Amino acid sequence: MPIKDHYAIRASDMICKKTSAVLITGASSGIGAAAAKQLALNGFQVFAGVRHPEHINGSENLIQVQLDVTDPEIINRAVETITEILNKDGVMLAGVVNNATVEYHGPVEILPMKFFRHEMEVNYFGTVMVTKAFLPLLRQSRGRIVNMSSISGRCVFKSIGSNCAAKYAIEAFSDALRLELAPWGMQVSIIEPGGVATPLWKKSLQAFEDLPKHIPQEHLQLYYPFWEKSVQAARADEEEHFQKTMPVDRVVKTLIHALTSKKPKTRYLVGRFAKTVALLKWLLPDRLFDRFAVTEFQEQSE
Ligand SMILES: NC(=O)c1ccc[n+]([C@@H]2O[C@H](COP(=O)([O-])OP(=O)(O)OC[C@H]3O[C@@H](n4cnc5c(N)ncnc54)[C@H](OP(=O)(O)O)[C@@H]3O)[C@@H](O)[C@H]2O)c1
Repeated sequence: MPIKDHYAIRASDMICKKTSAVLITGASSGIGAAAAKQLALNGFQVFAGVRHPEHINGSENLIQVQLDVTDPEIINRAVETITEILNKDGVMLAGVVNNATVEYHGPVEILPMKFFRHEMEVNYFGTVMVTKAFLPLLRQSRGRIVNMSSISGRCVFKSIGSNCAAKYAIEAFSDALRLELAPWGMQVSIIEPGGVATPLWKKSLQAFEDLPKHIPQEHLQLYYPFWEKSVQAARADEEEHFQKTMPVDRVVKTLIHALTSKKPKTRYLVGRFAKTVALLKWLLPDRLFDRFAVTEFQEQSE
């Protein structure tokens, strides 16, 4: 079929109507869960990708789909399930939001390879596999792809190098997709928030606290003072941290803009912190930026 035929249905014509469906990965908590609920309230048919389907309460237009983004078989089953429902209901897939994440903190030298790999598997390869699997359905509607990156996809901070590497990979992947899907008029957007008030921070802090269990003694000795100080500071500032982070709704609003606006942006920096850091990263030479990255920025969030 010539590419031109795909233009018969315009995403901007169908988006926001009840005939549009959106799939969100990692919808059991945080941004994914809030976005799934909000999109369903806005009249979208939402497929909420969750690893364990009992996680969220479904409603008429919010359907849970089992989706572990690291498992190709489960992804294929999700494609089959969603295709069946779309065909039955006469609905088209207007968007896929790649949102699932795990995050491990720790200096590069001591963070075990299994954590680097897992973080890449969920964030990066998960995004690639889900996108490739759903592209045929998305192409039918000239649908959109929204990839959750972070300010960590723009600049690197001490002790979160593994997360930054995964998010940088998502940024490059998204840029490639945008170029390659342009002939079909398909939009690709990247969301880059600063700190957001979700369960993610507590989960990654817990993993960081548990890090000594996974590393050899000689590494522990090298980094123990840094690790201990960081854990103590994070625990002492827990309440304050959540006050500084932005509410989930800010990111959800941005995500909905990326899915529905006639002119979605290619990148959305969300929150004052992300915008300031990105500007400084652009303005400053690396060594000067590094001085801020290990001091000022670690103290802030939003
Ligand atoms: N929170 C922040 O400060 C912040 C800042 C910048 C960017 N972001 C980005 O925003 C997105 C959402 O983060 P969040 O803060 O909402 O995190 P969250 O509350 O921890 O949610 C993460 C979601 O990913 C899911 N997940 C983990 N492993 C998975 C896998 N193998 N397959 C499918 N799903 C999996 C989790 O499911 P389970 O419940 O089953 O584990 C959960 O639903 C992420 O891409 C994150 O990097 C967050």
